[in-house]
Amino acid sequence: MLSRQTVDIVKAITPAVAANAETITRRFYERMFTANPEVKAYFNQAHQHSGSQQRALAGAICAYFTHIDQLDALGPAVEVIAQKHCSLGIQPEHYPIVGQNLLLAIGDVMGPAVTDEVVAAVTEAYQLLADICIHREREIYHQQLAQTGGWNGYRPFVVTRKERESEIVTSLYLQTADGGALASFLPGQYITVRIDHPVTPTSPRNYSLSDRPDVGHYRISVKRELALRADTPDGLISSYLHDQVSVGDRLEIGPPCGEFTLVPTLVPGRPVVLLAGGIGVTPLLSMAKALVHANVKTPLYFIQAARNSRVHALGGEVQELREAGAHVQTRVLYDAPLDDDLAHGRCDAAGTVDLDVLRDWTPHREAEFYFCGPKPFMQLVSRLLNQLEVDASRMHCEFFGPKQELMSPAAA
Ligand SMILES: Cc1cc2nc3c(=O)[nH]c(=O)nc-3n(C[C@H](O)[C@H](O)[C@H](O)COP(=O)(O)OP(=O)(O)OC[C@H]3O[C@@H](n4cnc5c(N)ncnc54)[C@H](O)[C@@H]3O)c2cc1C
Ligand code: HEM
Repeated sequence: MLSRQTVDIVKAITPAVAANAETITRRFYERMFTANPEVKAYFNQAHQHSGSQQRALAGAICAYFTHIDQLDALGPAVEVIAQKHCSLGIQPEHYPIVGQNLLLAIGDVMGPAVTDEVVAAVTEAYQLLADICIHREREIYHQQLAQTGGWNGYRPFVVTRKERESEIVTSLYLQTADGGALASFLPGQYITVRIDHPVTPTSPRNYSLSDRPDVGHYRISVKRELALRADTPDGLISSYLHDQVSVGDRLEIGPPCGEFTLVPTLVPGRPVVLLAGGIGVTPLLSMAKALVHANVKTPLYFIQAARNSRVHALGGEVQELREAGAHVQTRVLYDAPLDDDLAHGRCDAAGTVDLDVLRDWTPHREAEFYFCGPKPFMQLVSRLLNQLEVDASRMHCEFFGPKQELMSPAAA
């Protein structure tokens, strides 16, 4: 528990910290990567360039400071952070490094406002949050290790199959290199791929598992990330996985992690609506396949949005779900269909997810909604579900970057 005095001091400086949050976190990363270069390898350097990691940490700290006297409200945020940290192998000894550099960065930016009292209060508050995260991370590491085929850190896997799913998406099938057991996972979870890339050595990337659990392999389906501008590089690891990795090659893989799962959110008998935008189909397909395989007859509505048939990945597997029976319905929407896409029945309609689709085609008054896709898709779906008065407790989402990014309109 924090003392009343600490709570009061933290609350008093929160508006000033919030006003300077991004400058503080930028300064924090500069300081930390200079003083402690050993932690740099854990961070995605593209997220640093886009500023999304700065915004994630700044947002998390401001949210924490704002709710400093209602720590229960932090539960879901801590779970996102802890799952992400465990996917990357963050350890308790890293926390003082972050704490010290953060405090120094706050001092650099806010100057004399950071009195000894403020330093003491922020240190105490950071330590409490660190302890909460470390405690949850310890539990997750323990669970990972305790399960059959489980492991901590990185484990060598072999690529046993490589499938082109569309012009821009390729699936890799992975099995343990030593032939040992493969840990199960919760549909919706992701693994971490660590490649010794010449430009970004050891830089880890998360990939959602796109097949269902317990089929003898993991499968990831990777979109080739192209440069956003002429002066920026193509995505390093996705290009590498597409161009340089072949069947028989080894990859270092971190254990399944992530809180975007059907369990424990699934309510028996309540319909499930899955909304996929582009490559966001991967965790949702795993969920859908697992549900259908479990034969629980939960009403399942799967909307897959893509640009057109050239880039539409895994559509065949989404369609196959309907073979399970009338309780499974699917709908494919192309927002930029090719001339013959509609005529050949490659999609059900032109357009994207909109209010009419959600209102007329899904049981929106009672369903649990799970969605994943690029940032504009996520923001659109959230807005539409809000308009339909879907309670936040029935909305579950995954985002392929820091989740805080979804709240920032300025971000790329
Ligand atoms: C939980 C989770 C699950 C995910 N699941 C999947 C999945 O199932 N399938 C999938 O394909 N992806 C998935 N991702 C995304 C994946 O982790 C990678 O982010 C993605 O493959 C891009 O990585 P990259 O190394 O190819 O690109 P990066 O090299 O990280 O580049 C990403 C973008 O940043 C730009 N950039 C890079 N460096 C610079 C620079 N110096 N200056 C300016 N711009 C720069 C690039 O042009 C590119 O547009 C997931 C992410 C998360 C967090
Ligand atoms: C209490 C302290 C900390 C807080 C509040 C915090 C918060 C966060 C948040 C909000 C994210 C984004 C999660 C997401 O939505 O994907 C994140 C990711 C991350 N954190 Fe932490 N973190 C803390 C400590 C640490 C420590 C000690 C390290 C180790 C050096 C660390 C390393 C990382 C890394 C590497 C990522 C992923 C970054 C990326 O995508 O590039 N964090 N953290």
